[in-house]
Amino acid sequence: MSALLEDKVYMVLSDTAKRGVYPLHGYRYGLYRIPVELIDKKEIQQVTAALAQSFKIDEFADRIYVTYKWKETDVTASKPQDWKEAELEVTVEIVTGEVVDIIYQIKPLESFPDAHWVKNYRSKADQNAKMIIDFIIRNTIIGEKWKQEWTKKLKLNVQEVQKRFEGLTPLAKPLVVGKPAAAAAARKKGIDPNFMNTRQVAEDHANHHVWGPVTSPNVLGIHGTSVAVDFDLCVADGACIEACPVDVFVWLETPGHPASEKKADPARENECIFCLACQSVCPPKAIKITRGVHPFVKQ
Ligand code: F3S
Ligand code: F3S
Ligand code: ZN
Repeated sequence: MSALLEDKVYMVLSDTAKRGVYPLHGYRYGLYRIPVELIDKKEIQQVTAALAQSFKIDEFADRIYVTYKWKETDVTASKPQDWKEAELEVTVEIVTGEVVDIIYQIKPLESFPDAHWVKNYRSKADQNAKMIIDFIIRNTIIGEKWKQEWTKKLKLNVQEVQKRFEGLTPLAKPLVVGKPAAAAAARKKGIDPNFMNTRQVAEDHANHHVWGPVTSPNVLGIHGTSVAVDFDLCVADGACIEACPVDVFVWLETPGHPASEKKADPARENECIFCLACQSVCPPKAIKITRGVHPFVKQ
């Protein structure tokens, strides 16, 4: 769990008084107060622009609402046409002002139609909210300002500040620090077709290679070689599983990964008949099929 969130408080406790309470948050919620000022319109715009690359953003008065959506699929039925799907979301609210408050509240599962079958919803929503918060701190000027505050108040040097900062925001690790645009661009482009040259085999898994870097649970690398699935791009859409005529893929649980908590693992990549169906149906372009590469030989 994000160390930042271990400090969560359920009441406003601060020497800096802040207007009003949070009427929409009458029950259990997480509130994080960050001792930096965010009042300047330009700075607020910078924050929203950085977040808009990866999340849905709404603004109202002094608040910025950051929403992350994810899909759940129930694949317990034997026929793919009977599988169920639901889209869920969690919103984190940034209250700007003399200090920055970051608030989140988990909606009850009943607020999502036909999602009653989703397992561990609360913990997934909680994890995703924490991922958003870590992202906000790591990838916007809020984090930069916080670091300056530590340097001044705690008299820490640059390395100490950075270490503390990273310790507080572990869930944002797969993202490029300070460059959300680059991370979003990588997601748009899809799997690196040249991954066998640009990456190295980090480990083996279920009769296939895993091309690194891998730092579980946040960065999972590319599974497979002739049937390669970029786990960091896979959003558990499931179209590949449905499309593959020879059942190359199986679901693999990946709790704690920011993009999705299960991935299409090419467990039987040596069965592939190169029909390319999976590669063309995957929405985030996470799959790359390469003929003529022995699936389990180091490149
Ligand atoms: Fe299946 Fe994709 Fe190969 S659909 S047969 S794994 S090209
Ligand atoms: Fe993942 Fe793409 Fe398959 S998102 S589950 S690799 S269709
Ligand atoms: Zn694998």
